[in-house]
Formats: sequence, C-alpha cells, structure tokens
Amino acid sequence: MSLIKVNLPGGEDFYTQEAYKVLRTNLQFCGKDIKVIVVTSHGENEGKTTVAMQTAKSFAELGKKVIVIDADMRKSVMAMRNTTAKRPGGLSEVLIGIKTLEECITKTQDPSFDILFAGKYPPNPSELLGSEYFSNLLAQLREQYDYVIIDTPPLGMLIDAAIIAPHCDGSVIVMGSEKLKYRDVSAMLDQMEKSGCRVLGVVRNKLNSKMDTKRRMQSGEYTAQQEQK
Ligand SMILES: Nc1ncnc2c1ncn2[C@@H]1O[C@H](COP(=O)(O)OP(=O)(O)OP(=O)(O)O)[C@@H](O)[C@H]1O
Ligand SMILES: [Mg+2]
Repeated sequence: MSLIKVNLPGGEDFYTQEAYKVLRTNLQFCGKDIKVIVVTSHGENEGKTTVAMQTAKSFAELGKKVIVIDADMRKSVMAMRNTTAKRPGGLSEVLIGIKTLEECITKTQDPSFDILFAGKYPPNPSELLGSEYFSNLLAQLREQYDYVIIDTPPLGMLIDAAIIAPHCDGSVIVMGSEKLKYRDVSAMLDQMEKSGCRVLGVVRNKLNSKMDTKRRMQSGEYTAQQEQK
C-alpha cells in the first residue's frame, strides 16, 4: 500500500507553521477531554479545509495520532487538491455500508496522520451525518486516535456542521472573509451552542497582518506600547 503525500498552502512557511503551533497549543489548553473537533465557517472559501488539515498536521508533528474526516461530501476537494490520493473511498461509502472503515482510512507519509476522505457524492449527505452509523463511526475513531478533526461545509449554507456538532467535544470557527457580518457570526455561534457543542475559539484566516494592525490601532484595541513589544 502506497502512502499518500499531503500538500498544504503555507506548508513550509515559518510564520504559518508558528500560527498553527499556537492554535494547537490553545486547543490543548482547552482540556484533555477535547478530542473530536469540528471545523466550520459561515461562508465558502474561508479556509476550513486548510485549517483542519494544518491543525491535524501540527498535532501529528507532536506524535499525536490524528485523523481528519472530510465531511464535506457534496463538494469535496481535499483528496484532489491537498493530497496525492487517487479516487479514494471514504466516508459516504462507510456510512452506506458498502466499504469498511478500515478499507477507507488513508495513510499518509506521516505515520501519525490518517485521513478519511469524503467518498462519492451521496444523494443524502445530511441524513447520513445524522445517522447512528456516523455517531458509531466517531465513537470508534475516538478510541483509535488522540484527535479527530472534522472538516465540514459552510454552516451559513448547510446545516451539516450543526448535525455533527453534538457528537463532538468542541468546534473551531474559521473566519476568513472581509465581508462577514456581525449577525451572521452571531447566528452561527448560536447554532453551535444550540447543538450543545462548545465553541473552542475562532481562527481569523486570510488576514493581511499589516492591515490588521492598522485597523486595530485605529479602533484603540492595539496600542503603540503593544507594538513595541
Ligand atoms: N491563510 C491563507 N492564506 C492564503 N490562502 C489561503 C489561506 N487559507 C486558505 N487559503 C486558500 O483559500 C482557498 C480556500 O481554502 P479552503 O478550501 O481551505 O476553504 P474552505 O473554507 O474549506 O472552502 P469551502 O467552503 O469551499 O470548503 C484555497 O485555495 C486555500 O489554499
Ligand atoms: Mg472546504
């Protein structure tokens, strides 16, 4: 069996890797009982898949056994775009019962980092994620791995992340759009809380750091004294 390669944007970039180490540490500080983490955002293209994969990679570098689940079964790009896997079986086939979990877990070149890809587009993704097959699958993976990171479709468009959330220990919200509105973010946080899933924190992605510093200084949030540090 050949091991697949994972290609991530910023994979070799020092600042990107440092940022993910901070995220990893903050997640560890959330508690030892935080093992199954769902990653979502309000809109498309904010960076959920990238954050899910980078976070998993970062945990694997510590020697933690990690699996990423691609639960975006409608529009999965993970296998094609971020790995060298060729038409791998995945979550949909396991949930439908035509393949076993063992058959569908893909091993990467990092022995600590496995992936369960989305599989073929099923007609009823939300129903599959709401089924007891999915909760049983998570229970099984919880036993086998130190961390299970779940990539999902945007919560502002599809309910899938909220369906998954009750089976998770916490959620990470990615905010990677300049156009995000307060009411959308607030609705998304309410939705996650209603699902009984702790929001562990927010990842602000795709930030222009110089622009951000300027904006924070203008708003008084960021002082000159902080800047000198
Ligand atoms: N911090 C970043 N800086 C620059 N580009 C980024 C960053 N994070 C993600 N990207 C790029 O933005 C695009 C969208 O990222 P990604 O696929 O991770 O988002 P997504 O939220 O999963 O999208 P979708 O809603 O379609 O699933 C990709 O081309 C990715 O390489
Ligand atoms: Mg995605």
